[in-house]
Amino acid sequence: MYVCLCKGITDNQLRAAVAAGGDEFKLLKQQLGVGSQCGKCIPVAMAILAEENAKT
Ligand code: FES
Repeated sequence: MYVCLCKGITDNQLRAAVAAGGDEFKLLKQQLGVGSQCGKCIPVAMAILAEENAKT
């Protein structure tokens, strides 16, 4: 599903980026641009980040 509509980023892309070492929100923002426009996706992106970090 799309998490960030402004940048067209899916939850799978976010999960892959976290798995590749993007374990902080600022890194995901730098790499993918998530949350860099309207910011509405930030809470969902943070939840996915927390979920993925909890797995490791
Ligand atoms: Fe992600 Fe707008 S939906 S910045």
